[in-house]
Parts: sequence; structure tokens; C-alpha cells
Amino acid sequence: MIAILDFGGQYTRLIARRLRELGVYTEILPPDVSAERLRGLQPGGLVLSGGPASIYDQGAPRADPGILGLGVPVLGICYGMHWLAQQEGGVVERAQQQEYGKAELTSYGGDLFQGIEGEFVAWMSHGDSVVQLPQGYAVSAATRDTPVAAFERPAARRYGVQFHPEVVHTPKGTQVLDNFASLAGLQRDWNNDQILDRLIAEVRERVGSDRVLLAVSGGVDSSALALLLARAIGPQLTAVLVDHGLLRLGEREQVEASLSALKVPLVTVDARETFLRALAGVSDPEQKRKIIGREFIAAFSQEARLRGPFRYLAQGTLYPDVIESAGGAGSSGIKSHHNVGGLPEDLDFELLEPFRHLFKDEVRELAALLGLPDTLRLRHPFPGPGLAVRVLGEVTAERLDLARRTDDIFISALREFGLYDQVWQALTVLTDLRSVGVMGDHRTYSYTVALRAVTSVDGMTADWARLPDDFLNTVANRIVSQVHQINRVVYDISTKPPSTIEWE
Ligand code: XMP
Repeated sequence: MIAILDFGGQYTRLIARRLRELGVYTEILPPDVSAERLRGLQPGGLVLSGGPASIYDQGAPRADPGILGLGVPVLGICYGMHWLAQQEGGVVERAQQQEYGKAELTSYGGDLFQGIEGEFVAWMSHGDSVVQLPQGYAVSAATRDTPVAAFERPAARRYGVQFHPEVVHTPKGTQVLDNFASLAGLQRDWNNDQILDRLIAEVRERVGSDRVLLAVSGGVDSSALALLLARAIGPQLTAVLVDHGLLRLGEREQVEASLSALKVPLVTVDARETFLRALAGVSDPEQKRKIIGREFIAAFSQEARLRGPFRYLAQGTLYPDVIESAGGAGSSGIKSHHNVGGLPEDLDFELLEPFRHLFKDEVRELAALLGLPDTLRLRHPFPGPGLAVRVLGEVTAERLDLARRTDDIFISALREFGLYDQVWQALTVLTDLRSVGVMGDHRTYSYTVALRAVTSVDGMTADWARLPDDFLNTVANRIVSQVHQINRVVYDISTKPPSTIEWE
């Protein structure tokens, strides 16, 4: 395992992903994790990440100097390099000018660069630089503006790079990380087959002969988890799909068919009427979300009592959630996101979170191994409260039907035009805005639908997708001709921030 100390850099997760792609398991830890705790984790190497601070800033993150006494190889990246340099007695200075962007290494060599030849383009993003080497260190790369773009002390297996080897803008950076993993002598045993075997064994050992309850939504995480658990413990699993009536066209049937075909013991709860009744007359977005959360828990708890007892509640928690809550960043509180938290006290489950060390794309790859069809596996994200947050204002059966049909037209056309995989998420919003139109010889006064399609990496920030005119034209025509209550279609060109992806 390689432990990555996170000094707050925007690329820290990427370092973790890259090393995992190279077959090495990684864990991200807080920057000030104690040497004691690290020793207990028995890492085979340490990576000190980059970060936004200058080493001279007040309150700049510091690692426990004891980590250098663990005797394992260390790679400092950017800020991590500065910390290492300073700790070892070198000098770091604030540069006159920030270096930002691509730079070519004018020379390079040494252990980290083994096997690399030719031009080496490196992505730089720093204010400070190492200006005097610590004793025992040698320069191993330079650029025109940065004489110490990398350094090394091979005898102690300590290395530093000023550039970011983890980003795609450093095309040969993966080789640098690969070399570090080799210098650390680490086994390359982190691959999908192994992960799957390991997860199945862990689940079996923990669960024994007890029973496990899981809520599935049709999303890739809960579906993959259902498949994993079905494979690990078969009939000891009960997967519950709560149909709240806020799903997309044909979604319930699709989830049922896919999971049943893969032998997941699945129960569907038809709670459509209960949800509609609870939502009647409510138009405030937060209120709607709270009601849906509450009703979901009620429906799910009822099923748990009916089919119980269960010892475990399985959840598809992913590694980024774990890192975030450990870092205390938590959720921003902008929208109350909904999951199976807040269950009543009499349902006292132990949590089972087999994916808590995995990234989303690792789960997607596992899902493929487990046989989840690509239609579900590569699906755009869909919010827990479903179409309710895409029907502005009051949610009624009629308005849900409009949202469902327009969504289906938009998404089907994206697939038809081969654009589905080029956007991160796409949706339609049924607004409560009516406007005047003309159809045949008649004046109409009907609703406006907004199309929203975004590109994004993780949903935290997003840009609107530049979809072709003829595609948008086709979708708009299909919507107004097939859905008579709609006479106007607009395309949302807002970015996040300041907007959000969903409208509610
Ligand atoms: P926003 O609208 O906040 O959405 O920009 C970011 C991403 O999160 C999804 N989303 C949710 N997912 N429960 C979820 O599981 C929710 O309550 C929820 N609200 C928004 C949204 O679809 C987008 O992908």
C-alpha cells in the first residue's frame, strides 16, 4: 500500500487513482496523520501531495516529521516536495513569479526517470521553489525557470518533483509514478479480479450466516453492490427497490429485469400513491426533498420490519465520501441530499459498506465484471428524489407524466445521435411557466420545458454541453409535437457554479 498524505491539492485523488491503475493500493490520509498511526498501516511508500498553501503561510499544513523515520520511500509532489526539502535542511523560496502550465524539462535523469526517453513535458503549478538542496540530495530534473524541478536522495529512497506527474498534461508522468512504485518494491496486485475476490471473501467473513438488507435505486453503485452481495451471500440478501413514482419511463421494469436476471433477491415496494399524497400541495423544493426523504425511510423501514430481522444494512458508500467526511468538509448544505440515513431507532443495523475504499470508476469496472448491463452501468447520475426535483412547483401525477415523457424523448435522442456518452448528465425540467404559442390556427397557452445537459468530472462543477443545433432542433420538435401540453423548449446555458445542475 502507498499512503498519500493530502496537503489539500486538487489532484490528490488523481494520484491515488493513477497508482491504483498501476496495480498498487493507495489510501489518502490527513496531512498531519501521526507517524505512529502510519506505522500501524504498514505502508510500502509515502506520497506527499501538492497543496494550495505556501510553506511560509501561517497555518500551512505540516506532516509529522516522524514519518521520515518510518524507513519507507517518500515521494514529495510540489508542496510535498517543499515540505520534504525544508524538513531535510534545504531552502525553499517564494518565487518572484508563479509558474503555471506546461514546461519542458531541459534535463532529467536518476531513479525516478528510469526508462524515460526524449522530450518530457511537465505540468507546473507553483509559487515556491527549492533553491538550495538538502544535504545528500542531487538535482534530477530542471526546466528553464526551475533549476530544481526534481531532486533525489537515492540511498534513502527520497524523491521530490516540482511538477505534477499525476495529470494528463504530464504525458510521461505515469512512468514516474510507476518507477516510484518499483523503487518501493511494491507488489502490483490491485486489479479488478483480485478486488472482486477480496470483496466477496470479506463480505462472507463479516456476514457469516446473518441477513443483509439493501436499498437499490437503479444507480450503478447500488446495482453493483446488489450483484456483489448476491454473489457473496445469495439468499441472505434482500434488495428493496422503493418505487416512489418519481422514476423515469420504464426504469422500474428495467432494474427489476436486470437484477433478477443476475439472481438478486429483489423486492419492489409500490409506494407511488403514498408519495403523491404526501407531496400534494407542496411546491417548496426543500420541503419536497424532506418529504421524499421521510417517506422513503417510512416505506423502507416498513419493508425491513416485514421481512426482517436483518443484522446488516448495506450501503454503496464510495471512497470520496469517506475521505470527505474524514476531512470534515462534509456536505455544503446547499441541497439536502437523500440516502438511507435517519432510520428509526428500533431498526438498529450494522453498516456494511464494501465499496468504501473504491472510486466510482473502479465500481463501474467491477459492475462490468459482475455482469451489469451497460445501459445501467454507464447511465447518467439520477438524483434520489427523482423527477420530483425536475417538476418545478407542485408534483402531480399529470406533471410527472410530462416530465417523464420529455425526459424519455431527450435521452432517447441523445442515444440515437451518439451523444449520450459525451455528456455527463442530461435532463429535462418541467417549469411552471406558461407562455403563448400557436398551433395550427389556434393560440396555445402552455408550459415551457428546459433541456439541461452538462459536462463535468464529478458533478461539483459543471459546464453546459455544446450540443449540435440540428440535434437540439430535433429534440425540441419532437417534444412539442408529441407532448401537447408543452409549447416551448429552452436550452439551459448556465454553468455550475453559480447555478446547480438540477433546478431544485
Ligand atoms: P446539483 O443539482 O446539486 O447536483 O448540482 C449535483 C449532482 O447530484 C445529483 N443530485 C442528487 N443525487 N440525491 C442524489 O443521490 C439527491 O438528493 C440529489 N440532488 C442532486 C444531481 O442529479 C447531480 O448529478
